[in-house]
Amino acid sequence: MSEQEKTFTLTNDQTGESCKLAVRDGTVGPSVIDIRNLYAETGHFTFDPSFTATGSCKSRITYIDGDEGILMHRGYMIEELVDKSNFLEVSYLLLYGNLPDKKQYDEFNHNITYHTMVHEQVHHFFRGFRRDAHPMAIMCGAVGGLSAFYHDSLDIWDEKQREISAHRLIAKMGTLAAMAYKYAVGQPFVYPDNSLDYASNFLKMCFSVPAEKYEVNPVLARAMDKIFILHMDHEQNASTSTVRLAGSSQANPFACIASGIACLWGPSHGGANQAVLEMLDEIGSKDRIPEFLERAKDKDDPFRLMGFGHRVYKNFDPRANVLKKYADEVLDELGINDPQLELAMELERIALEDEYFIERKLFPNVDFYSGIILKAMGFPVSMFTVLFALARTVGWVSQWKEMIEEPSLRIGRPRQLYVGSAQRDYVPMNKR
Ligand code: SDX
Repeated sequence: MSEQEKTFTLTNDQTGESCKLAVRDGTVGPSVIDIRNLYAETGHFTFDPSFTATGSCKSRITYIDGDEGILMHRGYMIEELVDKSNFLEVSYLLLYGNLPDKKQYDEFNHNITYHTMVHEQVHHFFRGFRRDAHPMAIMCGAVGGLSAFYHDSLDIWDEKQREISAHRLIAKMGTLAAMAYKYAVGQPFVYPDNSLDYASNFLKMCFSVPAEKYEVNPVLARAMDKIFILHMDHEQNASTSTVRLAGSSQANPFACIASGIACLWGPSHGGANQAVLEMLDEIGSKDRIPEFLERAKDKDDPFRLMGFGHRVYKNFDPRANVLKKYADEVLDELGINDPQLELAMELERIALEDEYFIERKLFPNVDFYSGIILKAMGFPVSMFTVLFALARTVGWVSQWKEMIEEPSLRIGRPRQLYVGSAQRDYVPMNKR
């Protein structure tokens, strides 16, 4: 450790022993105490079961300031990217670190577009499921199984093979998500249309039928594109951390993304957008809001206000603010007066005036309004988390690629505080 390096000294109050640890600064945000030598020097582990104060990696992709409600991708504010960019351009930015010039964009757009089709055999994956299978269950299986089709490009140490796997995953997630929807509603799969942009192509694969001509509604395509941008990456959230841990074992990228899909499904994470609509259905009317707020505060009641609260944001989730604006735009375009939007806004208003929520800094998060827009666009509630996974695949593959390209890649292997039985001898059955 060099003299000028910032350090943190840890002292054992019982023995007086101390350990000097390096402090490392990032570009912005909290510095970190480097504890990689802690066990070797002190014989102690740290203990942080849900990683509330643990940095798991260095990353250049996304930065969140939870107190200020700031979200940046590669230094660009999310509000500016949503307003001025598009899903594919932000995908390039997350993957490669800078906004593309025209040549780079056109080449990337071509590569993604020409990877949107899936192998015809993949259609048979779907046929094995019941029609009422949750589409996230199908996505876990279908995406994990994709690796079976690409034996030519699973060498994670080969830069070109990493890149083609990333392109295939981004491109095919839209097609697989649309197929999951079509399978659920009993309609034929619709092949990608390479003449369309990503969001328009996705809407056409979801909502067109062979029997009729289909025109993509540009307002809905624009809203879809923006919704994708808002869900693309979010630092080391649970599903991204799952992808990184899977990737640290050198598993292939399709298996890693399948593990991220599985983790995202939980109602505490990406499954919350589905849970918000189910909660609004259960609340039913504004006069029942106080009853549900009391339940949300009751420690003996497992009910939580879905779409509220966040591990990092202790202010408004900037994505929720943008989605609230698009909810109005999409509902206006479709001429829908959705009482659930009214109910959600009243629920937000009352919760934000309630001491319990104020004290704990619980604000609406990305999932609070997204479901209302997706429902208005025609998606069933069961598809909401699939759409989250579609967009987050860009963040997952970008974070996976960043990790694999780190020179010091090692398998992630946390330790524990063992509180089980001390050593004891086996007792034969007749003596127990
Ligand atoms: C996402 O990490 C990410 O970046 C995730 C994400 C991404 O883009 O990847 O942003 C996407 O997952 C958004 C979050 C979606 N989940 C929900 O909306 C589910 C509802 N929210 C909660 O389950 C909760 O807020 C979490 C899971 C989001 C965060 O949980 P934490 O950080 O572990 O907070 P906590 O459970 O320790 O809560 C602190 C206090 C507790 O009360 P006390 O014990 O202090 O009295 O706040 C309470 C909690 O009971 N609390 C809530 C609440 N959220 C927290 N009480 C009622 N309703 C809630 N929603």
